[in-house]
Amino acid sequence: MLQIGDGIHCFSVVFVVVLLGTRSAVCSTVVTASLYVFLLMFRYPQVPSGRVRQVLRPSKAVQSGGVSLVAHRGGGHDAPENTLAAIREAGENGATGVELDLEFSADGVPLLMHDETVDRTTNGSGLLSKLRFSELSELDASAKHRLREKFRGERIPTLQEAVEECIKLQLTIYFDVKGHPDESASALKEMYDKHPVLYNTSIVCSFEPKVIYKMRQVDPEVVTALTHRPWSLSRLGDGTPRFSSLWKHHWMQALDVLLDWAHHHLLWNLCGVSAFLVQKNFISPDYVQYWAERGVEVVGWTINTAVEKQYYQELLKISYITDSLREDCEPHY
Ligand SMILES: *[C@@H]1O[C@H](CO)[C@@H](O)[C@H](O)[C@H]1NC(C)=O
Ligand SMILES: *[C@@H]1O[C@H](CO)[C@@H](O)[C@H](O)[C@H]1NC(C)=O
Repeated sequence: MLQIGDGIHCFSVVFVVVLLGTRSAVCSTVVTASLYVFLLMFRYPQVPSGRVRQVLRPSKAVQSGGVSLVAHRGGGHDAPENTLAAIREAGENGATGVELDLEFSADGVPLLMHDETVDRTTNGSGLLSKLRFSELSELDASAKHRLREKFRGERIPTLQEAVEECIKLQLTIYFDVKGHPDESASALKEMYDKHPVLYNTSIVCSFEPKVIYKMRQVDPEVVTALTHRPWSLSRLGDGTPRFSSLWKHHWMQALDVLLDWAHHHLLWNLCGVSAFLVQKNFISPDYVQYWAERGVEVVGWTINTAVEKQYYQELLKISYITDSLREDCEPHY
């Protein structure tokens, strides 16, 4: 069932907004009732809490006070991001899990890459969607890393290679999926079928609710999370406005308010997510409590200093994603 408290809040807002817009009590009643029925019919229930706990608070995390330490892109500060070397390095440095970015080559091979182009991380150039896997596999994925001497010749791994490495090292996987809902869901489903242990040791995360919804449609047993950064439509990661036009900026800001409201009152429920991955500036004890009441765990990103890590481990007692398991570093947006 829908949580009554949340439901009443959400549906009252919808009722009032439609009433103000249409000035018709009948119309707003019909719209509100339809929304209620829609949610009831199309929402996915959360995965049972026992299995969610195994994924989000694995037994390995006991050493860090029950808090998961997740290496962002495999730990992009300590090794070339999204590579097998990064996964191994993260394991050696005491990470309990790794966050990995799923993408596809031009010929549809699922692999690890964060950007749409290969320029920032490899010695190649061009759009990922224009390069075949045979071309990508020639590139040096450590070419632009500060420790490139140490990791020379590291390749772009396929999703399968990365998954197998993580299973071998008993690392939890946070699959970060940016787009391609259909291709991503089917590539991941293939991994879950091939390695059922992933149901206990991985979580699929995305900024895009439709990616998560699609994943649960394909397999409702998969543990999922929505990723969120308030004001992400109008502002970049470092807080600067995305658009120079003031009009456009304000319009995007209005959409940001709407999106934030939808995330907190509708989308999490529709997708039945078990965790909410939130940019650290918006996390407080009250915020963690808000989600705990809904059976959802907050995971913070990107936590890169010793002071912040201590705050997360000892005070908030929630898991976090970090660029380095070794030292303080700048955030990689
Ligand atoms: C990138 O580096 C690899 C490994 O050193 C090399 O084999 C390849 O030819 C290089 N590719 C380009 C486009 O420079
Ligand atoms: C997942 O965890 C449950 C509970 O601990 C266990 O019974 C099950 O066998 C595990 N599944 C796999 C594939 O490891």
